[in-house]
Amino acid sequence: MCPGSYDPVTNGHLDIIERASKLFDEVVVAVLINKNKKSLFTVEERLEMLREVTHQWPNVRIDSWHGLLVDYCRAHEIDAIVKGLRAVSDFDYELQMAQMNQQLSGVETMFMSTNPLYSFLASSLVKEVATYGGDVSNLLPPEIEQRLRQRLAQQNADG
Ligand code: PNS
Repeated sequence: MCPGSYDPVTNGHLDIIERASKLFDEVVVAVLINKNKKSLFTVEERLEMLREVTHQWPNVRIDSWHGLLVDYCRAHEIDAIVKGLRAVSDFDYELQMAQMNQQLSGVETMFMSTNPLYSFLASSLVKEVATYGGDVSNLLPPEIEQRLRQRLAQQNADG
């Protein structure tokens, strides 16, 4: 299980998903709700984008869930959650979630170190940089960048 907000999916996410797909027979990439974040794309849009950019990996399945991550894992007999760790700053919160999920359900979390190329990369920063016209073309697949630009332009037009 590779869970996340994926608002939108970045090259950093794809690096972890690809590496997980080589380690596990099957990988579920699930869009979950992060209560601390306001989203730019709907869950349906995020699913569509994830499907577009992961179709080359046949053992990767895309899904969404509006509840506890561990409930999804239990219902689908998933034993392992895979998370990318960018820097020590990620560790506190990720460790807390891993321990909570383990205690709730016994589901284990495996941490994968991110490719150093993407250690600064976060969807929230990409959105901020793109909002002010910065170049994010090497941080997202081209089709996702295009969608992001369209959505930001639409938001600007709507005021
Ligand atoms: O990409 P994100 O925002 O860092 O992903 C965080 C996410 C969505 C995986 C996390 O918020 C989550 O698991 N949400 C589902 C609800 C849940 O299980 N919360 C308890 C976590 S211990």
